[in-house]
Amino acid sequence: MKIFIDSGNLRDIESLVPLGIIDGVTTNPSLLAKEKEDPKAIIKKICRLVQGPVSAEVVATDAPGMVSEGRELAKIDEHVVVKVPFTREGLKAIKTLSDEGIRVNVTLIFSAPQALFAAKVGAAYVSPFVGRLDDISSDGLTLVRQIVEIFDQFDFGTEVLAASMRGPLHILEAARMGAHVATCPPAVIEACLKHPLTDIGLKKFLEDWEKAQAAKV
Ligand code: G3P
Repeated sequence: MKIFIDSGNLRDIESLVPLGIIDGVTTNPSLLAKEKEDPKAIIKKICRLVQGPVSAEVVATDAPGMVSEGRELAKIDEHVVVKVPFTREGLKAIKTLSDEGIRVNVTLIFSAPQALFAAKVGAAYVSPFVGRLDDISSDGLTLVRQIVEIFDQFDFGTEVLAASMRGPLHILEAARMGAHVATCPPAVIEACLKHPLTDIGLKKFLEDWEKAQAAKV
């Protein structure tokens, strides 16, 4: 499973890329609004850092507006994937952009039929929002499972990008279900790096080693 960073923060991305586990980045208007720099400049810098798919979202809500914004975003860098929300207008824009060879990540997916329709019009990725469904007492991971099941039966070529990941268990379950990608906030990736038994075990190994060296002197 590919791991994307869900962030527009260059420092966070710079600190995680050297780990070698990062395949791409997703941003959204809320994430980029937190940053001071011009959004297009940030996207360009992220593309240079990651050298993999970087989702940049349109903010127009009508199909012609989404298409022209999507074309502009795609010009920023060859790694840009245009993020389009799943709406009636969004569907038209996804088809136009995909037919032009621009990769589209369809965002704000909250039902399996939405994912199916997005795949039918050529989406490169669909992004079911796991955490936001959990927030309203719905099971976000069940949605991921349903979409993976549907895509396994057809040849859409659309990848399931599990989004709104709130903790390591979301990543674990998305991987077990066969989601192609999980996009994770930096804090969730950091949480997966730590285990208390690893820390305790390493401390003991080093103490034993030091004791043995001291005894040899
Ligand atoms: O970027 C899309 C998605 O991952 C947002 O997550 O945590 O704001 O629900 P969240």
